[in-house]
Amino acid sequence: MSRIAYVNGTYQPHNGATVHIEDRGFQFADGVYEVWSVFDGRLADFDGHMTRLARSLTELRIPIPMTAQALERVLKETIRRNRVRNGIVYLQVTRGTSPRDHAFPKDTPPSVIVTSKTIDLAKGETLAAKGAAGVTMPDIRWGRCDIKTVGLLPNVLAKQAAREKGAYECLMVDDMGLVTEGSSTNAWIVDENGKLRTRDTQANILRGITRTAILKLIEAEGIELDERPFSVDEAKRAREVFVTAASSFVMPIVSLDGSKIADGKPGPVATRLRQVYLEQAKRDAV
Ligand code: PDD
Repeated sequence: MSRIAYVNGTYQPHNGATVHIEDRGFQFADGVYEVWSVFDGRLADFDGHMTRLARSLTELRIPIPMTAQALERVLKETIRRNRVRNGIVYLQVTRGTSPRDHAFPKDTPPSVIVTSKTIDLAKGETLAAKGAAGVTMPDIRWGRCDIKTVGLLPNVLAKQAAREKGAYECLMVDDMGLVTEGSSTNAWIVDENGKLRTRDTQANILRGITRTAILKLIEAEGIELDERPFSVDEAKRAREVFVTAASSFVMPIVSLDGSKIADGKPGPVATRLRQVYLEQAKRDAV
C-alpha cells in the first residue's frame, strides 16, 4: 500500500511529496515539529503535544496555521489514509516559503506537513525486555532547547555517534558533567540510594510530554522523585537508567559507554513505568 502525506492542504503520495526549495524549514531550520504515538489508530497524549506545539510556535512567532480542531482532523485523516494502527504521526510547521532572507518574511503562510507510519510495537517490547545500550557526548546545542524546533543537527550527530557504537541512545552532557537529556529522549536514573531522578525543565532541555505523563504516574504509584540533574558517573553507578519519549515510551538503558548499569538488566522501576505508561496512553488515546 502506498503511503500518503499531507502537504499544505492536500494529501499526496508520500514518495512524491515535496515542499519548495525556499521553504524556510529547508533553508534555516525555521520551524517546529511534534511526534505523537498512535495506538489502535488513536493519538496518545494528544493535548500535551498540541499545547507544546502552540507554545513552540508562539515562542518563534510563527503564526498558528489552523485551529486545533482542524489540525486534529488532518492528523487523524493522515493516520487513516495510511492505515496506521500502531505507529507515529509526525507534524512539521515552518515559517513558510519566501525568498531567502534571514529576517521573518511578511504575510507568508506557514507550511504544514503531516506524515504517519506504522511501527512494530513488538520490536520495542523485545528491546525493552532486554534493555538498550547508551553512550554519552557533550551537549553542543543552543540555548532554547525548550522549543521543539527542527534544528536538530547536534541531536543528529549524537544519535549517529550512538548508532556507530551499536547503541540505542546518546545522552548529552553539559560542561559540568551533568546529563541534559537524550538526543531524542529525556533521561532518568534510579540512583545508588534508590531515588528516582530526572533533570528539571528549568534547565535547557525539552519538556517531554512522555516525561510529564510519567511525572503524574509516579505520583499515583507513590514513587518519590528528585527533580535534579545527575552526572555521567552517577548514571554509571545507578541502579537503573532509562529514557522516555513518544517514540520510545520508557526504554531501559543497561549499559553506558560500555559500562554495565547494575546487573545489566532492565530494573523494576523502568519496567513498571513502561507498563503503566503504555496502559494509560492506550486507554486515554483519542
Ligand atoms: N523526540 N528530548 C528531545 C531532545 C526530544 O527530541 C524528545 C522527543 C524528547 C521527548 O519528548 P516527548 O516525550 O514529548 O516525545 C526529549 C521525538 C520523539 C523525535 O524527535 O522524534
